[in-house]
Amino acid sequence: MIPVMRPWLGAEEAAAAAEAVASGWVAQGPRVAKFEETFASAIGAGHAVAVSSCTAALHLALVVAGIGPGDEVVVPSLSFIATANAARYVGAEPVFADVDETTQNLTPATVEPCLTPRTRAVILVDQAGVPADLDAMRALCGPRGITVVEDAACAVGSVYRGQPVGARADLAAFSFHPRKLLTTGEGGMVVTPDPDVAARLRRLREHGMDMSAAARHASRQPVIEHYVELGFNFRMTDIQAAVGLVQLGKLGQLIARRRVLAQRYQLLLAGIPGFRTITDPECGTTNYQSFWVLLPDDFPVSRNELLQRLADAGISARRGIMASHIEPAYADVAHRPLPVTERLSAQTLILPLFHDLTEQEQDLVVSVMAAAAKTPDPAGACARS
Ligand SMILES: Cc1ncc(COP(=O)(O)O)c(C=O)c1O
Repeated sequence: MIPVMRPWLGAEEAAAAAEAVASGWVAQGPRVAKFEETFASAIGAGHAVAVSSCTAALHLALVVAGIGPGDEVVVPSLSFIATANAARYVGAEPVFADVDETTQNLTPATVEPCLTPRTRAVILVDQAGVPADLDAMRALCGPRGITVVEDAACAVGSVYRGQPVGARADLAAFSFHPRKLLTTGEGGMVVTPDPDVAARLRRLREHGMDMSAAARHASRQPVIEHYVELGFNFRMTDIQAAVGLVQLGKLGQLIARRRVLAQRYQLLLAGIPGFRTITDPECGTTNYQSFWVLLPDDFPVSRNELLQRLADAGISARRGIMASHIEPAYADVAHRPLPVTERLSAQTLILPLFHDLTEQEQDLVVSVMAAAAKTPDPAGACARS
């Protein structure tokens, strides 16, 4: 089976993890600190704070932004459900906004109708790795006192207006889940230019303790720590950070290879009428975290049938980005019409794209898509699932 994603992990990562184990320090320690430092400098951010997942990173970002009960947080429904969940974790209400059809991202035009006097934050997702227009969103939100938190789960190494995503953000959250380009197994990172915010994030991820376990361990005097606010256990382990450091060193190669493969998909799929694929936005370049294809309305095969045909040919593709507002967990949330979200969610699919994907495997994927385009549809044209 051709997987939708296969992490590019090898002997170097295995050796780094083994070294961490042999060192005896396996919880958050020196390797996490080094990973944070290296990550911050790689993306040009002031400070990076490693956590256990991007979900935890988003949660903490909203805590430090002061979001809580009674507040509204505008989020795209078209996102992995963790984006909306983060608002609920802090007791706020997610408000679903629609997205732009080309980038699949929020824009000021889709967010503005959702703003109310209770809006305190917008979670701006760089969907599938496509950088969202942060400056435009800040221009809308800044004068209203609304914080923009960037959900850069998918966007490590994507470029926004000449800088890596995260470099210009007040708060940005990254994911290192194995479906992502750079993986630590599970893991996440929050970046911020503000040293005080970074210090609070470090405290919050470690139970609200006023000094880190590493600092306590290094002290030559007995130390009594204090717990100054409600915190969490959102720590990353040194084993994960060791793997992350190796992966970070490969990021340039990972992105370069993905961009070559993505351009090849674009070229091959251009021969099938009506397909639209992920592409670079005007404001930057994507890392092609996920290669999505939008089927035309009159495509002769439904999206789900196409997924089945791909599976029958030994290809593991996926539905496109989910629409959170249609999930039972959010059935109680009233929302404005979300026509673009619903169309994208129903008519897109994600094709295999990973570092070791071969041209022959890509050709097989494209041939199944091309054959489906030629299928007569007895029930009438319908691309909807
Ligand atoms: C946009 C977005 N936000 C948040 C997450 C959650 O990331 P994690 O699995 O690291 O918690 C994901 C994961 O797929 C995502 O795609």
